[in-house]
Amino acid sequence: MIVLGIETSCDETSAAIVKDGRTILSNVVHTQAEHTPYGGVVPEIASRCHIMLLPGIIKQAMEEAKLSWNEIDAIAATRGPGLASSLLVGWSTAKGLARKLNKPLIAINHIEAHVHSVFLNPEAPDPHEALPMLALAVSGGHSSLFKIQEYGKLELIGRTVDDAAGEALDKAAKLLKLGYPGGPIIDKLGRTTPPRKNIFPEGRVREGTETGGLNHELCMSFSGLKTSLLHYVTHTPPTCDADVAQIASDYQEAVVNAIVKRCDKALVGMKHLAVGGGVSLNSRLREKLMELCDKRKVQLLLALPKHCGDNAAMIAGLAGMGRGITGEEAFALDIAPSWQP
Ligand code: KG4
Ligand code: ZN
Repeated sequence: MIVLGIETSCDETSAAIVKDGRTILSNVVHTQAEHTPYGGVVPEIASRCHIMLLPGIIKQAMEEAKLSWNEIDAIAATRGPGLASSLLVGWSTAKGLARKLNKPLIAINHIEAHVHSVFLNPEAPDPHEALPMLALAVSGGHSSLFKIQEYGKLELIGRTVDDAAGEALDKAAKLLKLGYPGGPIIDKLGRTTPPRKNIFPEGRVREGTETGGLNHELCMSFSGLKTSLLHYVTHTPPTCDADVAQIASDYQEAVVNAIVKRCDKALVGMKHLAVGGGVSLNSRLREKLMELCDKRKVQLLLALPKHCGDNAAMIAGLAGMGRGITGEEAFALDIAPSWQP
């Protein structure tokens, strides 16, 4: 099955063609630079960019795959979660294309697609054989932990109760006047100096906090971390670049430790740990997850760096695995900005 996938949930405009869920024939990803001066994604600008860029990006994906429209078996797009005005562009385009070409339409969940991104690596095992699996999706919009015992059934067992991990890094970078997006900048600074111990709190969620029925020990909180950074720089202002790098490294360590500790707790009985999303690019997180999986004799499945951020190959791939909502029902669906897998 050859699927054309479309992804426009945030500020990446992307189209890809994937065969049988895992073989990428093309994957065109455009990251909008228009948001940089604002230090965050501006929804109105994002949707306008998607409208202007998406047709050309779909055309490019078709050309790179060297396929004609009659060789495409289905059109898949992200239906949610994400920014409403951004989702609308990709989802409406997919609907229009599917109707016009008389092909099936497939609604894909963006978070489940991040989990599938690890299987775009040709060296990864068959997704049906990597079970039971713990899956971590960490990005600018979400930080969630799922237990997968049966293929396609994602059981949410932990999540952030406030900011996402990427959001916490982006906000810290803004506070430290490092630029946007902050994750990669903090990652780079973190590599220049080892973290000090326990400078920032680890984002524990107190018993009794509203977690939607989830075990509080598997949930994380990053909003307090940002506040403690603000206190820290107010009382101990950095005086040189080395000070800033040290603070970035300490802060990153707190974010990474919060994630790794939750994974450690949730790994019981799991054969694999799959990790996707923009924050999974983080070198310190990768290093600590490798250590954890070595210790626990669990196979770590990391998405290839080019598939960590938002991309349409993970959308087309997941659709090619038979996941998502299709049939006439799909055409009746609207976007779902808070859709959980
Ligand atoms: O998956 P993604 O492209 O978009 C969302 O679905 O949110 O993730 C973007 C997030 C941003 O917060 C960005 O700062 C973070 O991923 N990020 C990183 C790194 N590269 C991107 N965070 C930590 N270390 C990195 N190397
Ligand atoms: Zn994402």
